[in-house]
Amino acid sequence: MKILVTGGAGYIGSHTCVVLLQQGHEVVIVDNLCNSKPAAVERIRELGGKDVKFYKEDVCNETALGEIFRREQPGAVIHFAGLKAVGESVEKPLEYYANNVGSTLTLLKVMGETGVKNIVFSSSATVYGDVEDPPLREDAALPNHANCPYGTTKLMIEQILKDYAHAHSDFNAVLLRYFNPVGAHESGRIGEDPSGIPNNLSPYIVQVVVGKRDKLHIFGNDYPTPDGTCIRDYIHVVDLAEGHAAALKLFEKGNCGLRVYNLGTGRGHSVMEVVKAFSEAAGQDIPYVIEGRRAGDLPESYADCQKAKDELGWEAKKTLQDMCADALRWQRQNPDGYGD
Ligand code: NAD
Ligand code: UD1
Repeated sequence: MKILVTGGAGYIGSHTCVVLLQQGHEVVIVDNLCNSKPAAVERIRELGGKDVKFYKEDVCNETALGEIFRREQPGAVIHFAGLKAVGESVEKPLEYYANNVGSTLTLLKVMGETGVKNIVFSSSATVYGDVEDPPLREDAALPNHANCPYGTTKLMIEQILKDYAHAHSDFNAVLLRYFNPVGAHESGRIGEDPSGIPNNLSPYIVQVVVGKRDKLHIFGNDYPTPDGTCIRDYIHVVDLAEGHAAALKLFEKGNCGLRVYNLGTGRGHSVMEVVKAFSEAAGQDIPYVIEGRRAGDLPESYADCQKAKDELGWEAKKTLQDMCADALRWQRQNPDGYGD
């Protein structure tokens, strides 16, 4: 199938494009490079062993997007494009609503005009909020808003897709709720390339390992968890990428309507366990200090992954050790990410 991948030059998108190419799909990327580099597209071609078409374009640009869809006529869309920094979304809510919600509205309009009926959307475990205790199931009650504008854009987009699918019985949407993606392709050629100081745990730790940061700041060790640090469901980005390929198979089988799946491992690890795993993979201590809690953090979050296993035939295979080894290989081989 020809898959149009918005945000395909980004962290999760690049790994997914490689898996799609390896599985024989044709890939067209639309990315405005606001948080990624053209080198990522080159490396997708290298690892996928095939050419991909790349359009440097904003998904909010309806005219340009319409031209791309009319020219390419994709069979399905995977919509990764979006802004994702939690703190920045608190400072600049309008940018987040305009970009994340706006791009999805434009995309759906263009898809409707050009007869494209299949979409996979990048949602997040953040939509669960703190309403229910883990393991989190897809049928859990969702809050009205998340703990930040970024998270609320995911809730809003999920609702938009539900309403659109309700109005169009031949429209198919698979909402994938990612838990905590970490790691990199085992080649070390593509990986996570955050700009500035990393907000997330794994990219921060690997920068400590290569000496770019002095020490890790652990946000709180007084949570009601066995070692007092927060527990998350870390999933290898290549497992996550394969989850997208599995979701696309639903479209090949026919009309699937709207489906929601968690993509996680179903297993939680504490911050201290992650530090220990990275320390073992790196063969060195990781200096850290304990700080106060970070606003908005939940003590514990992990997925119930049974639904994806039953309906997509997908489950995560890689371990926390794989995630650490691969994240470190990427960072060591590319200390400045993709460069300028
Ligand atoms: P990323 O920033 O690496 O990739 C997003 C890509 O989208 C970037 O290449 C960026 O340049 C592009 N982009 C953003 N706005 C665009 C626009 N208007 N038009 C065209 N391109 C645009 O992020 P990622 O980690 O790969 O995340 C991909 C998706 O998954 C995002 O929607 C994110 O919210 C979601 N998600 C990520 C995580 C995570 O931990 N990384 C967790 C849950 C959900
Ligand atoms: C965060 C976001 C979530 C988003 C996801 C991917 C919050 C509250 N949640 O998830 O909405 O979908 O990133 O972008 O921001 N930690 C440290 N030190 C650090 C970094 C993190 O101790 O330098 C801790 C955090 O307190 C947390 C754990 O590590 O307990 C994981 O943090 P992180 O990687 O940022 O992921 P989430 O908070 O789960």
